[in-house]
Amino acid sequence: MADTDGLKVAKNYHVNEPFANQDGFYVKGANSLDWGMKKHLSNIFDPKSGNTVMFAFDHGYFMGSTAGLERLDLLLPTLAPYVDVFMGTRGAIRSCVPPQITKGIALRVSSGSSMLNEDLSHEVVAVDIEDCIRMNADCMAVQTFIGADGQLESLDNLSKVINAGMRYSIPTLGVVAVGKQMERTDRFFKLATRIVAEMGVQLVKTYNCENFEEIVAACPVPIVVAGGKKLPEKDALNLAYTVMAKGAHGVDMGRNIFQSNHPIEMAQAIRKIVHEGYTDTQAYEFYQDMISDHAKE
Ligand code: R5P
Repeated sequence: MADTDGLKVAKNYHVNEPFANQDGFYVKGANSLDWGMKKHLSNIFDPKSGNTVMFAFDHGYFMGSTAGLERLDLLLPTLAPYVDVFMGTRGAIRSCVPPQITKGIALRVSSGSSMLNEDLSHEVVAVDIEDCIRMNADCMAVQTFIGADGQLESLDNLSKVINAGMRYSIPTLGVVAVGKQMERTDRFFKLATRIVAEMGVQLVKTYNCENFEEIVAACPVPIVVAGGKKLPEKDALNLAYTVMAKGAHGVDMGRNIFQSNHPIEMAQAIRKIVHEGYTDTQAYEFYQDMISDHAKE
């Protein structure tokens, strides 16, 4: 057992100081990567704003058919103009995303549990690197369960995917999982995001929490934030604004887009925050204007 008694509390996050090793390439922590990695990261993070709007529709990998995602074939083409990256499973992407849609692809490669399991933390790597290459994946998403029963398996999965990604210059997206029993404190997210980053991922997906700016500061690669459970639109826009103001490089949002009564307008409003610096209040006004314009048509 490591001697953790008497550990000093980390506190010097220098949240107002920009990431230091940033000369030459705009994506955080990616300076020393090769051209292929940088090209994929440029397909994810807009070179002008440096940020991304990822649309997550991978829920079916453990939830099956989900409200709002019943017909991926109908939904995805309508949202494509308003998001930067599609995040889904290979089954959903191959069957429902027309290949002429030129969006970044975040391919979910871990799976192995379902809603019927009490413990979701046991997964395998379900997609091999050759298929990620065939699908032109811009990153490979692996769920990591820090502090859960399946921690070792998920870190093993993560390291295998990172190793394969390094061989073929495909970034890995480390997804920090939160389970029923797992804390959602800044202490947990500081631990989990940093472990995942030190394993070698090129981007991290996590959740908002108290002191989020410290999580961002201590994570040497870009963080994108999951939306979580469906919120009223105003609150979801506030979430997006808050995390962007605290240093996130985008959102990876699912339910707060596809379960909205107005998914297209919601994606457009989020885009305004992520790429154009709108406040949540401005973005909500924009959202309402878009809906009323739509109603008049
Ligand atoms: C969960 O692990 C999945 O990766 C989802 O993609 C993720 O939770 C984002 O979707 P939502 O915004 O609905 O939470």
